[in-house]
Amino acid sequence: MTEARRRLGVIFGGATVEHVISIRSAQAVMAAASTKRWQIIPFAVSRDGLWLTPDESSRALSIIQKGGREEIAAPAAPRSNRVPQATLAALVACDAVFPLIHGTSGEDGVLQGFIETLDVPYIGSGVAASALAMDKARCKQILREVGIPVAPGIAVSCAAWRDDSVAVIRNASELGYPYFVKPSRGGSSIGAGRVDSREEAADALAAAFACDSEVLIEEAMPSPREIECGVLGSPDGRPPVVSPFGEIRTQRAFYDYIAKYEDPTTELIAPAELDIDLAKQLRHTAVEAWHAVGAEGMVRADFLVDANGRFWLGELNTIPGFTSASMYPRVFEVAGIPLSELIDRLVALAIERRSNAADGRASLDREARQ
Ligand SMILES: Nc1ncnc2c1ncn2[C@@H]1O[C@H](COP(=O)(O)OP(=O)(O)O)[C@@H](O)[C@H]1O
Ligand SMILES: [Mg+2]
Repeated sequence: MTEARRRLGVIFGGATVEHVISIRSAQAVMAAASTKRWQIIPFAVSRDGLWLTPDESSRALSIIQKGGREEIAAPAAPRSNRVPQATLAALVACDAVFPLIHGTSGEDGVLQGFIETLDVPYIGSGVAASALAMDKARCKQILREVGIPVAPGIAVSCAAWRDDSVAVIRNASELGYPYFVKPSRGGSSIGAGRVDSREEAADALAAAFACDSEVLIEEAMPSPREIECGVLGSPDGRPPVVSPFGEIRTQRAFYDYIAKYEDPTTELIAPAELDIDLAKQLRHTAVEAWHAVGAEGMVRADFLVDANGRFWLGELNTIPGFTSASMYPRVFEVAGIPLSELIDRLVALAIERRSNAADGRASLDREARQ
């Protein structure tokens, strides 16, 4: 007897600057998922945050596949509801869903909370870990507390910037030049910039504050190597698996938006050449960080490493890119785990978490009745 295929929902697009990357991540996941095991149900979300039905999502994907614009257009007919009934019904009928919206509203706990409310197993971190990893200012506080090296710096609110921008620029200059500014809850290097002199400060800070109400000002690591690894959860609460390391090389001043998505000379090298002791420290740090934020399923840990082997954990990404050019699937491929197997493992973890949560609820109910 053949095993029935199970329904795997893939959620992509979304009201984020990484809309196109999300579509590409979803296309790669859908192409790789085992057709023997999974019936893929697509859930496209437009740039305005409107959810399409699975039928509309399939149509949107086939238009893109035929060379149409890489964008999920809003449904033609006006809707009173962001999530139509047919979409909700299809979501709750899924055996598991794979949220693949990067950044705001997809990776920051909002989408996770919505799926949690529907009581459907989903891949990746839960609400709290997603929100924490997305909020660089708060995440750094927690990482620092457990002894993980992060860039020294300060967080500044837009109120402080509005009240006394001269004082903010003066405080920032105490870090020395150059320093980095970035939105606390950002991504894809949008709004991030290097400040080489006092003259550049006001524009760079204004650009960062245009993206978020809180901005990080950090000491810059000079000419850092950009080293990344994937972390993958293990069943039964066993320690997570850390992938081999990958390295990004860019010819630009830093790994900015253009280097990430437009510059053809940006190189992704996997496996990266790393000193054995350094690799050991980075692996250990990635696992510590995973536990510190309470991550589940998957995380990509991004490090900055200087010429002397000193390193900072730059950030944790709870929904890393899954495009054919992305680091997370690449480093696991190097480890001998192809994307189809990675998907199977991630789904199994999602289902395990849901059943543990259900067991927990049942035992609380029993206690309450006693
Ligand atoms: N403190 C720093 N020192 C040196 N480079 C930095 C620093 N902070 C950020 N960068 C550069 O900016 C890029 C984007 O910063 P990051 O914190 O990873 O934000 P994002 O979430 O937008 O990717 C990094 O990959 C790195 O090239
Ligand atoms: Mg980054």
